[in-house]
Amino acid sequence: MGKEFESDLSKVKDEALRTVMEAAAESWRRPKSNVLPFNKTTSAADRYMRLLHSGMIGRMTDAMVDAVQLEKLTETKFTKAIAAWVAEEKSPIIMLCGGVGSGKTVAAATVIAQFGGLFITAHRLLRLFSARFQSIDWQDNVMNANTLVIDDIGRERPTEHADLASALVEVLDSRQSWYRRTILTSNLDPTEFTKVYKEQRLHSRIQETAKVVTSNAGDMRRKKNA
Ligand SMILES: Nc1ncnc2c1ncn2[C@@H]1O[C@H](COP(=O)(O)OP(=O)(O)OP(=O)(O)O)[C@@H](O)[C@H]1O
Ligand SMILES: [Mg+2]
Repeated sequence: MGKEFESDLSKVKDEALRTVMEAAAESWRRPKSNVLPFNKTTSAADRYMRLLHSGMIGRMTDAMVDAVQLEKLTETKFTKAIAAWVAEEKSPIIMLCGGVGSGKTVAAATVIAQFGGLFITAHRLLRLFSARFQSIDWQDNVMNANTLVIDDIGRERPTEHADLASALVEVLDSRQSWYRRTILTSNLDPTEFTKVYKEQRLHSRIQETAKVVTSNAGDMRRKKNA
């Protein structure tokens, strides 16, 4: 895990898989004039509205909403990595792996505040893609959001891991055909992640297209209250 998108695809042995990956890599590199541009705001009021529209506000404390809106966050490994990921434009996906309170959701919020997008938990994503629910409108929103955050991957029930992995492959494949950013967060580290999700297609997507960032920063909620 953790290789950059420009990695050497010739190492992929399965020819069919390599062809698909090469096509995906090509689509990511193609001129971006045919898709919605990322529209960065420099206004604090806009940052607030973008957080609000994404559905993120309720997931953060008021103090954190203020800090993101006013760009007054402390730098963490995640905030630095995510800012670099946006600036580099090398990979369509970033995966933030870290324990409880390590700052994953807050780091994701910085991108949503600047560019707008949609926030969804893995748990909710599962519901949207379940056969019983099948909300086409919401699936479209998930596929089309310029920036999508899928939060808390790994917190679903063990019986739901397989369904989530399939939904993730579907979402990542669809989004990858366009210039769209996807932020994944997980409390699993990359090794645990590989063990928990048996879906090989998910691992190959992440291996070839994602920047994977792991932090073992402790729980910042606890430090604050200490
Ligand atoms: N960049 C930051 N600057 C200042 N405080 C931060 C920052 N990132 C996180 N925190 C503090 O840590 C708390 C937890 O952050 P966050 O919700 O992003 O963690 P998390 O990794 O998503 O945790 P969980 O696994 O429980 O979802 C925040 O409410 C805030 O108090
Ligand atoms: Mg979180």
